Order: sequence, then structure tokens, then C-alpha cells
Amino acid sequence: MGVNVLHIESRPSARRPAEFEILVDVQCDNRRMEQLVRLLRREVSAINLAEFEGGEDLPPPTPLSAAASFDFGDMPWFPKKISDLDRAQRVLMYGNELDADHPGFKDPVYRKRRVEFADIASSYKHGQPIPKVQYTSEEIQTWGTVFRELQKLYVKHACKEYLENWPQLVKYCGYREDNIPQLQDVNVFLKRKTGFQLRPVAGYLTPRDFLAGLAFRVFHCTQYIRHSSDPFYTPEPDCCHELLGHMPLLANPSFAQFSQELGLASLGACDEEVDKLATLYFFTVEFGLCKQDGQLRVYGAGLLSSVAELTHAVMAADKIKRFDPEITCKEECIITAYQNAYYYTDSFEEAKEKMRTYAGHIQRPFDVRYNPYTQSVEVLSNAEKIVTLVSELRGDLCIVSNALRKIQAQDDTVDVEGIANLLHSGITVDPDKETEKE
Ligand SMILES: [Fe+2]
Repeated sequence: MGVNVLHIESRPSARRPAEFEILVDVQCDNRRMEQLVRLLRREVSAINLAEFEGGEDLPPPTPLSAAASFDFGDMPWFPKKISDLDRAQRVLMYGNELDADHPGFKDPVYRKRRVEFADIASSYKHGQPIPKVQYTSEEIQTWGTVFRELQKLYVKHACKEYLENWPQLVKYCGYREDNIPQLQDVNVFLKRKTGFQLRPVAGYLTPRDFLAGLAFRVFHCTQYIRHSSDPFYTPEPDCCHELLGHMPLLANPSFAQFSQELGLASLGACDEEVDKLATLYFFTVEFGLCKQDGQLRVYGAGLLSSVAELTHAVMAADKIKRFDPEITCKEECIITAYQNAYYYTDSFEEAKEKMRTYAGHIQRPFDVRYNPYTQSVEVLSNAEKIVTLVSELRGDLCIVSNALRKIQAQDDTVDVEGIANLLHSGITVDPDKETEKE
């Protein structure tokens, strides 16, 4: 009937002892899928669509919980395609309502303005251009004050990747003291540099939703600015923090990949693991440092957007520790005061390698991979899917191999063996399983 069965597995149901759960992985068009679901409903007690690519005319995919060959248990729903992020927008605090301790709480004009920004964020859908904002002269003045003071610190303290991208942000996105850059302009710039996209958000998202965005190279970005009464303090992220702190690094390929891998590790992970990943995000992307030319430099956006804490952190030698995900994930994240500790690595690559090792131990019965062609997350839940991925990767490896051969022919000092070892070190298998096979 035009349905291609890719994989089928059954096992006794953990929840209903007398029943079996059957996983069937199929390929078919939307019409066939509807027919299939109708037929199956007559035969089985319950049916769950674990994943359904392109099924916009069917109900949205349900949580993966009940439909797998392994125990998905109460696994939380996670977005599979980039447009699913429209459904992952839970704002924790400071949406269009401010808390009593917020500097703008008693300012009706500021609060009305925040409602305008919240409306933009809540009505935004994936694929739309981000509405441009006419900032007021008061808002531009606040931006200018922050911009001017931070500029004085960047040359001495920002990491080289940050400084490298700054001139391009000035040129293409209007980074100036008297101009608040538009998110849409930065969005276009980032897409070209690293494939990252911006999405307006009204305030703090839940860690799960925020990290899920990173898995798709989508960065949730506030558009409003802090209250003018205190340009050097904000209890929440604002456009000064996003534009001055985050954007220059998101334009760096290695950092972009690090951010995305943090996001991918979070998909389907339990709440406890997501909290640990959010802490690791906090002490790297927000408050991280790295060693460059023997000196500690800053890449964390929380520091690069705070005059006071940036100055404090680089002087606080006793608080600066080497990044170790197993230890760092237990550190307390402090929002309205200085951190108790800051963490550094020698490079983004080191941070990435350590995070990869850490992510490999996260309890999740499968791994995921982002497919940039379809802008979707592939759940690598069986050997066939992995074989398909390997076949795709072989194409890329062939390109690497050919390119290396050509470069080596021109320059025999190129460390071909070192690069080959680097490739091999990316694949590890369980040594016990290897032995069993022998
Ligand atoms: Fe941030």
C-alpha cells in the first residue's frame, strides 16, 4: 500500500503487563500515514506517533514516551524540526509582567514598552523576519552609556574571536554608540557566518526550551533594553547583553558548534540533566574564560556585557578554576550578584571536547544529530539510521581525504597523520563489546 517498513520491534509493556508495545518505523506520504493510523486504531489499544516528518496536516507529534524499542518512560517532548520551536516558548519570568524588584516596576511608560516587545515575541513564528523596532532616544542613550564603557574593556579582556568579529558587526549590523542594532540585521549576518539564527523572546525561557533552540542553531534573543535608571544593572538579559555579549561569539564557527552541541545534548534528557547542562552553559557561554597567549581572556556574554563583573572576574584570580564539566555542573548560578567561581579552558576546542565526553554519559537511550539540509533533528535510535548517517559522512570524509592528498602534494610539512588521528579519535566504541565480538 505504498508504505515502506524500515524497522519493527516488540517488547512486553512495562505499564500494562498483559500487553506488548510494538515500534514500527515507516516511510510513507501523509495520505498513506493517515490511512495507516486509521487501520491501526481498529487493531491496537493505543497508538503514538513518535515522529512524523512533514505531517503538518496531522496532529502534532506526541511525546516520545510510549513508542519505542527501549524505555522512553516519561521522556519529555522535544522539537524535531526547526518550526517546532514555535511550541517551545515557555517564558519563566519577566515576560510582559515585571517583578517588584525590577528597576522598571514603578515606571508605567517602561512597562507599556515591555508589553510591546512581549507582543512581538509571542506572535513571532519561525521563518518570519524579526520586526524592526524604532528605539526611543532614551533607550538609545542607555545603550550608548553601556556601549561606551564596555568598549574600553574589550581590547584588554575580550578573547580574540570576539575582537575579530567586532569590525564586521560595526560594518554590517550598525554597531555604534548612537544606534541599537536591529535583531533582523544581526540575524542575516549570523546566518551567513555560522548558520545561527535569532528568535525574539520576551524574557527568560525555561532552560529546556532555551537549550532546545541551540540544538537548531537558534538563539533566543531579547529585544527590549534595561531601565534607564541604572544602565549598569539589569536583573535579566536585555539587548545590551545579547548584542554586546553574545553576538560576536555566535559569529565564530567553533563557538557556534560548541553552543549547538550543548543544545543537542539536552534534547530528551531528564530535568536533572537539563539543569546540569544549563549550569554548564552558564559557566561557559555566559561566564567562561579562556587562555590566549598566556593570558586569561573572556568569552562569556554575562561578563562581556557587565562592566562591573567583567572587571571583577579578571581580577579574581582565586575564583578562577579550570573547566571540568563534572565539577562545574554542581556550581551555583548566581543571577543578581557576582559568581562564586569562574571557569576557563585553553580553547573552545578544549571546552567542546570536555563537553562531548560529558554529554556521552547523559542518560538517554539514543543520540541525536542535526541535519542542516532539512533543519531537523534525527533521532539515531537504530542501526539502520546510523548506517544512513555513516554513508552521508563518508562523502564528507572523501572530500577531506582528497583535499589532504592535494595539500600534501604541495607541502610535505603538513601533518597528515595527525589529522587522520584526529578523525579516528572521534569514533569510540565500548571496548567490552569489541571483546565479546572476538
Ligand atoms: Fe545570555
